[in-house]
Amino acid sequence: MSDSKNIDEHTGTATTSHEWDEIEELDTPMPKWWIGIFYICIAWAVGYAILMPAIPLLNGYSKGVFGFSDRARVAVAVEKMHAERLVNSEKLVGASIGTIQNDSDLLRFATEQGKALFGDNCETCHGRRGQGVPGYPNLNDDIWIWGGSFDDIKQTINYGIRAEHDETRFGSMAAFGRYELLEPGQIDDLVQHVLRISGQQSDAAAAARGANLFAENCTSCHGDTGKGTRENGAPNLTDTDWLYGGTAAIIRETIFNGREGLMPNWDTRLSASQIAAISVYVHSDLGGGE
Ligand code: HEC
Ligand code: HEC
Repeated sequence: MSDSKNIDEHTGTATTSHEWDEIEELDTPMPKWWIGIFYICIAWAVGYAILMPAIPLLNGYSKGVFGFSDRARVAVAVEKMHAERLVNSEKLVGASIGTIQNDSDLLRFATEQGKALFGDNCETCHGRRGQGVPGYPNLNDDIWIWGGSFDDIKQTINYGIRAEHDETRFGSMAAFGRYELLEPGQIDDLVQHVLRISGQQSDAAAAARGANLFAENCTSCHGDTGKGTRENGAPNLTDTDWLYGGTAAIIRETIFNGREGLMPNWDTRLSASQIAAISVYVHSDLGGGE
């Protein structure tokens, strides 16, 4: 190694003295801006390691002067959210629909929570957004078997329909054919009568015979004119909305074998505030409430 550097005559830059086939390697110095950034990065890394959590230790890690922790920040945020929820949940229990609708914050809380709970617990039977499928009523329309006020809906959800609960709603559509309460011919006449009162094509003579049978066997639950009674959960037979179906074949099947749709009680599965939230959702957001 010699002290005197070889200077490349074309560029004026020192060479490394490495040479291959008379081609020499230049020893170009690092640009100043690059070295500047390099030292700034080192200083920043040291500063960061002192202030912030950075260095893995045998048990845990260095906490840093600031003691910053994302985990702790999330925990605080979650706790705050729980506290807010608790306040709203407590407000919901026992509140009337009027009170809830007048408190926009509470209403939003209830419909959001109710919507999520409805998706988890109710859509399997009542269909997406409660539009209903045969045997499982549509909860969006204004047609209610058991009642569509906020309190009616809440009671239905709490105790169910034909569920195993002392307070459950109960009403039964007997199997008039299977239990031999009526002859097959009488059932045919009743089918024609139901077709007539629901505004469909029917055989006039058979429907007239069916009307008498209807008065004897059916009006106790479905009402004198077949418009249904809520105490018995007996649907209106004169409209175009059917729980099971309004074709002759399905009406016949209903009268022959009876129907006993089962809606579980939720008082043992969900909290009072959750049931109130779902009731608000069904009543206000699905838009079918009375
Ligand atoms: C296992 C199926 C099932 C599940 C799950 C279910 N339901 Fe029902 N639900 C029914 C059936 C069946 C009926 C109709 C009962 C009848 O024939 O009167 C009904 C009726 C209702 C009614 C009364 C409708 C009316 O016209 O009066 C409401 C309200 C209701 N359900 C809400 C809910 C809510 C809210 C949930 C979720 C917490 C839910 N249901 C979950 C089966 C179910
Ligand atoms: C003891 C009360 C009771 C009597 C009596 C009764 N029903 Fe019903 N009926 C019901 C109930 C309750 C339902 C609904 C069953 C359900 O929700 O699962 C129903 C449902 C029906 C339906 C289905 C409606 C739909 O929307 O799909 C028809 C049709 C019907 N009844 C016809 C009759 C006829 C005809 C008679 C007389 C032979 C009769 N019912 C007698 C209680 C009764």
